[in-house]
Amino acid sequence: MNIKEIISQMTLEEKAGMCSGLDFWHTKAVERLGVESVMVSDGPHGLRKQDQEVDHLGINDSIKAVCMPAGCATAASFDRELIGKMGESIGSSCQHEKLCVVLGPAVNIKRSPLCGRNFEYLSEDPYLAGEMAASYINGVQSKNVGTSIKHFAANNQEHRRMSSSSNADERTLREIYFPAFETAVKKAQPWTVMCSYNRINGTYASENPWLLTDVLRKEWGFQGYVMSDWGAVSDRVAGVAAGLDLEMPASGGMNDKKIVEAVRSGKLDEAVVDQAVERILTINEKYFANAKPDTPWDKEADHLLSAKIAEQCMVLLKNEGVLPLNKADAVAFIGEFAEKPRFQGGGSSHINCFKTTSALEAAKAEGLNVTYAQGYSVQQDAATDQMIAQAVEAAKAAKVAVVFAGLPDAYESEGYDRTHMGMPASQNALIEAVAAANPNTVVVLHNGSPVEMPWIGKVKAVLEAYLGGQAVGIATVRVLFGDANPCGHLAETFPIKLQDNPSYLYYGGEADEADYREGVFVGYRYYDKKDMDVLFPFGHGLSYTTFAYSNLRLSSSEITDQDTLTVTVTATNTGKVAGKTVVQLYVGDKESTVLRPVRELKGFEKVELQPGESRDVTFVLDKRAFAYWNTQLHDWHVETGEFAIEVGQSSRAIDVCGTVTVKSTVKLKKHYTKDSIFMDLMADEDAVRVIKPLLDNFRKVFGGGEPSSEAAAEAVTEDMGMAMLNYMPLRGVMSFADGNTDKSMLEDLLKALNEL
Ligand code: BGC
Repeated sequence: MNIKEIISQMTLEEKAGMCSGLDFWHTKAVERLGVESVMVSDGPHGLRKQDQEVDHLGINDSIKAVCMPAGCATAASFDRELIGKMGESIGSSCQHEKLCVVLGPAVNIKRSPLCGRNFEYLSEDPYLAGEMAASYINGVQSKNVGTSIKHFAANNQEHRRMSSSSNADERTLREIYFPAFETAVKKAQPWTVMCSYNRINGTYASENPWLLTDVLRKEWGFQGYVMSDWGAVSDRVAGVAAGLDLEMPASGGMNDKKIVEAVRSGKLDEAVVDQAVERILTINEKYFANAKPDTPWDKEADHLLSAKIAEQCMVLLKNEGVLPLNKADAVAFIGEFAEKPRFQGGGSSHINCFKTTSALEAAKAEGLNVTYAQGYSVQQDAATDQMIAQAVEAAKAAKVAVVFAGLPDAYESEGYDRTHMGMPASQNALIEAVAAANPNTVVVLHNGSPVEMPWIGKVKAVLEAYLGGQAVGIATVRVLFGDANPCGHLAETFPIKLQDNPSYLYYGGEADEADYREGVFVGYRYYDKKDMDVLFPFGHGLSYTTFAYSNLRLSSSEITDQDTLTVTVTATNTGKVAGKTVVQLYVGDKESTVLRPVRELKGFEKVELQPGESRDVTFVLDKRAFAYWNTQLHDWHVETGEFAIEVGQSSRAIDVCGTVTVKSTVKLKKHYTKDSIFMDLMADEDAVRVIKPLLDNFRKVFGGGEPSSEAAAEAVTEDMGMAMLNYMPLRGVMSFADGNTDKSMLEDLLKALNEL
């Protein structure tokens, strides 16, 4: 029986029932028709498959699994292939565990460093988030299991997450908060999309027809099914009508009944219910058709893969010649995270790891000359004198001191936000004391989101290891001692202090209203526009070698918005060891009538180069790379003009730049009224032709006529007169003209202007 036939034989009750979960993790079965139940599980950086007691906050145990680096780390790899491989391994483990869908990736934009879930999310940049999400999805789905990209949409804070309204204007949603989902849908067609808890401009995501149907399906072409975040449903009937196919988890039958009643009373079209069921069964069938429950799951191999991935994600933020460490030297590892690394965050993504490897274990296994002092306790914020004294002793006795620091679990988690950007006082005090005792102090950070670094000027190096998964210790030691060359780059800006962040004044909102008043100026889009100092810029990441980019070539100096532009640059390893560089391409509109960021990431490539090796890297840019979201067209639009093409090693380290002129093929329809000002009219070539006689007349009155005296000529020069005219509305012709202008003339003029 095909799916349509099955649906035609289902009762209304069965169909309504199919639109919510059987329990926490399963869809329902209809045995008499051979419809089987499937299981879904968190996600995103490994499996949280619960067998016994269930919950959506990671409280109860799940099966032993492998924890890969979290989103904050994997995004910093800027490596599509790598995250694709991670997806493949997660996909295989899903097959092994008989899971139809893994709940991820989580791609919400990092609007503020405070969001408790930033560790799971990818970036402050929508292009990077979209590219990485698409690669992850393609990786997982290549194993014939589905993904659930989440949380759609504008779920950028944990504070009041189930009731708050993310109030953002159309352009901001389209340019910042939607594209990660859009790219993933267009490039990878996730089997499912998970809608978010929050409202968007007042309407819950779970019952928002514009979001779930118009944008997601009609515009982007999404073909799978939409499921709710766990407990995100408020009005189930409105949800079904809006395009929310599956409610998760089970609603105890309550909402299913409401669907049945709504159909019976004529409030909801049964065809809409049929469609939701068809979408769910189609995905389930896709899984069954290719289910491979005998897929092996080699957890030891995945542990090593996790270490390899972590190695490619770490960002060397600062290095004043101290790294890589010499294996023969005595090194003191200081800080509890050296022994018990923080490698994942709390909540629904929390994995029950089958094993973990700390940096201390990894160093010992390598036979390195490493001592250890605990330095602080993650349980306490205040420093204890005794622990600091021991750490200082260890630091003094060693050639190099490496302090493992960062954020304890309680500082950042799903379910609530941080209240500040600081690290525990005990850890800051420890770093200061160790740095005073040993001039070669290195800090390794384990955190899911930026932290303030009051000690930055006192340490020689900082390695951002993020939440690097259960094998993070292996990767850390390989990077510290030079067996691996660091090649991660920041997927987010590290501001100097929280107050610098563009959303600082508004983040969290007032009661349930969270206004996104900074608009499109999120992350580096804001810091660059304000030309502000930051601690570390977006895209920043050092290496044990150096790179230079040169010879920028553009396929043309002028294109239309229908053409593509090919950009080629030569990347060279100018140092002494092999390494990987992330070639970043930014585009900026040099002059624009709308407020736009100085530069926006529109391409990146990670390339491995041997010492002295050069390679050409090519990017192809299309209309979207130059466009902004135009709220008159409700579409992407390019304004004719010059655009800067910048290629660099971070958003603040541009090696080469060029210029291209892009011509728009779309003429925006202008509507003029008596209140339209001359400046706008004069910017429109066609309008200038219409108003030319008027302009000539004005020139006479304001600037061009014979001044009555020398004093009058000095008081208003011709330039001044014309400048004043700029802001004059058309109706001004009635007030100031020489009596030859009447109302009908103004009306004729407007008619002519609006017929252009
Ligand atoms: C989270 C989702 C997660 C779901 C199931 C929710 O609390 O927001 O990301 O997939 O629970 O555990």
